[in-house]
Parts: sequence; structure tokens; C-alpha cells
Amino acid sequence: MPEVMKIEGGHLLEGEVTISGAKNATVALIPAAVLANGPVTIVGIPQIADVDSLSEILQILKVDVKEIDRDHLVIDPSNMENTTLDQDIVTKLRASYYFMGALLGKYGYVKMQMPGGCYLGPRPIDLHLKGFEALGATTTYDKGCYTIEAKKLVGTKIFLDIASVGATINIMMAAVYAEGRTTIENAAKEPEIIDVATLLNKMGARIRGAGTNVITIDGVNSLNGCFHEIIPDRIEAGTFIIIAAAVAKKMVINNIIPQHLDALLSKLQEMGVNMTIDVDKVTIEHTDKLKGVDVTTKPYPGFATDLQQPLTALLTQAEGESRIDETIYIERFKHCIELQRMGANIELLNGSAIIKGPTQLDGAKVQATDLRCGAAMVVAGLLCDGITEISNVYHIDRGYSEIDEKLKKLGANIWRETIEVDE
Ligand code: EPU
Repeated sequence: MPEVMKIEGGHLLEGEVTISGAKNATVALIPAAVLANGPVTIVGIPQIADVDSLSEILQILKVDVKEIDRDHLVIDPSNMENTTLDQDIVTKLRASYYFMGALLGKYGYVKMQMPGGCYLGPRPIDLHLKGFEALGATTTYDKGCYTIEAKKLVGTKIFLDIASVGATINIMMAAVYAEGRTTIENAAKEPEIIDVATLLNKMGARIRGAGTNVITIDGVNSLNGCFHEIIPDRIEAGTFIIIAAAVAKKMVINNIIPQHLDALLSKLQEMGVNMTIDVDKVTIEHTDKLKGVDVTTKPYPGFATDLQQPLTALLTQAEGESRIDETIYIERFKHCIELQRMGANIELLNGSAIIKGPTQLDGAKVQATDLRCGAAMVVAGLLCDGITEISNVYHIDRGYSEIDEKLKKLGANIWRETIEVDE
């Protein structure tokens, strides 16, 4: 039976929270591990549904997966078989597309279904496919399945029309065993890309330049198992920082890399949020008055599109007018409709939202239409008067590790209920 999340708003939160390993790194590191010829140990695995889905895909591929500890996976592809991935599980998340690059790189052949993930408007994968083709692969699409194959992958220069995170990682994975040098120009620079390149290099790959817009990959013949610890989740960290700015008396957010959050932290400073930034933590204390700001989402190191949604909920409490311009996914505004149900004053334009505040939000029945909309509903639920009921909680569980427990420890009144659905 489906679950709803309920939050009684109006409580000030206090205490410390520790951020988990990065979802968007983890979901690429797990497929990347199959490129090795021995066991890969990954530590810092977040407790999220996307990890369960990827583990299921690994099992289909006869990859041995052992959970040694709650956050500690050993992935052993020694007896792996390259089977067709046409099961429903593949469509449950976006990141299943990383098996395209990994299996193509390892076997020169992959057949799999279209990936799924949050609906944020159209999310094409043309740049991934063009990259594979540039390396010498042919791609065909038939009855919902992609077949990508190559007799031999040969390194080449690939210019990405858009600095896509997914395409950069997928091409990197396809190129690790290719003959000669692959150069990705206009590569995405997100920290998760550096994390994946670090894992691959520990396995024996020769990748240089990850984190800049030119990445070179010199092909190798063999990759070994290794040990890797995932970077902290900058989006989970950003979400808790926003929660703290909204409802904390005093909150410490531990296990963060502040540099990964520069764009958010400087916006919050501009809003007047009272915070102290340390080497690996940030402390936020209650602020009475917040100022409205303008935000434009950009690829890293610009303001992350994934934080635009939770920030919108906070901006309903800021004085004056705020504006959000979304340049990555221009339809990523479903959270605004849900916030309007709670009383927010938001005007939607094409690709932008104008928020006028401060407004008192009232508890309502709302929907997590996608993962970060869910995060925005949690922020709003904590802020509002009365009880908020969030449906489609599975979206939140896809990407936030134990969010209810973390919030409860900080003093939030948050719980889940199962609901009857009319047939
Ligand atoms: N794009 C194309 N063609 C492609 C690939 C991308 O036109 O072949 C466009 C997209 O439509 C979008 C832009 O390029 O307008 C950037 O997309 P990108 O490929 O960078 O996004 P992604 O790899 O699909 C990852 C994260 C998203 C995050 C974006 C942007 C994962 C699994 N997902 O998606 O995370 O919003 O980068 O930073 O890493 C989330 O965590 O909630 C989430 C949606």
C-alpha cells in the first residue's frame, strides 16, 4: 500500500546532522565498478532506493554484490554475464543508463531499455549516443530497447554540445578500454564526475582533467578491484542547509565539502542567513528576517538546478520579490504548483518563477512530483502551520538517505502512514 509522509510544522529544529554519500556519484560508481576484473569495495553508500535498484540490475548481470555493513558494498564482477537489460527495474531510475557506457566499454555490446527517472521535461540522451558513435559504436533503437555495439572502440576527440553530467560520465566509462586517447571537450565539471574518475583511476584507468572542461582518457588493457569512499552529497547537504535556514534554532550540518556548495552558501549569505562555515561543516542559527534574491541555475560551479526546488520553499519566507530562472530543465517547476496549494505567492513564467514573500504557509495535501519537489515539500511542511501530507514519497526515498530519522533527531514531528487507494 502506498505511503504518505506527514509533517507537523512550526517546530524549531536543533542539533547536528551528518550528510551521507552523494547519490549522483553513487549511482555512477556502482555501474563503473563492473569495469573491473576483481572486487570493488565502495564505502559511504547512502540508504536510498536507487541503490537497491542498481543492486538488482547487478544481480541480473550475475555480478556478486555483498552488503558488508549498512553503507559498505563489495561489488565483484568476476563471474559477470552481459545479459539484455529489458527488465522493468531499468526504467525505475535515470542512472541505469550508466550501464550503457560500462557494458559497451567492457564487452563492446549492450542491449537495454530506456532509462527512467524524474520527469523534469524532456531528458534526451543524444549526446551519450553520439559519444559512443564517435568511439566507433553503432546504436539502434527498437521496441523500447537500445542496442549499442562496436567491434573495436577507438579513442577520439568528442565535443559535447551541452556540458552534460550523464554524457561525460558515460563516455568516460566507454573509453577506459578504448584504443588510444579519448578527449572530451566541454565536459561537465560536477564533483561527482571527479569522484567517478577517481574510482576508475584507482582501478588502473588513465583519466586526466576530471573537474575541468577537458578530460583525457588513455585506454588501458585491464582494470583491477579497489577501495573507494564516496564524496558527501552536496544536494542533501544543501537541502539540510536550506531546512536550517528555514526552521533551525541552531543546526550543525556535518560531513560537507563547503566548496561544493559555494553558489548556495553565497546566495544564503545574500539572503541574510546567519551561518558559520568550517572546513567540513556549517553551523546555522535562527535568522528573523530573510531578504529575497534572484537565482539562475547553471552547471557546476553555478547554482545547482537540484537545489532550486527546495530553495523556492525558503524564498516564500523572504521579504520582497525573488526570482528563479531555470536554465537546465525549463519545466522543473511542479513544486511551485504544490507550494501554491499551501498558500505561496508564486507566479510562473516560461522557465522562471517569481516568488513574493513572506507568506504564511498552511498545511495541505501535496505531492512529491519528483525527487527535489519532494525535498521542497519537506522544507515547506516544516515551515507551515498545521499538518502537511506528502504523497508519492517513493520519489523522496529514491534520493534522500533516511530523511525522516535525520529530521526526527533534530526535533521535527514527521511520520509516515499507509493509505488506502480507490481502485
Ligand atoms: N541533455 C541533452 N542531451 C543529452 C544529455 C543531456 O540535451 O544527451 C540536456 C538535458 O536535457 C539538460 C542538460 O543537458 O537540459 C543537462 O543534463 P545532464 O545530462 O547534465 O543531466 P543528467 O546527467 O541527466 C544529472 C543528475 C540530475 C541533475 C543534472 C544536472 C544524475 C543521475 N542526475 O542528470 O539530478 O539535475 O545532472 O545537474 O546524476 C536529481 O538528483 O534530482 C537530478 C535530477
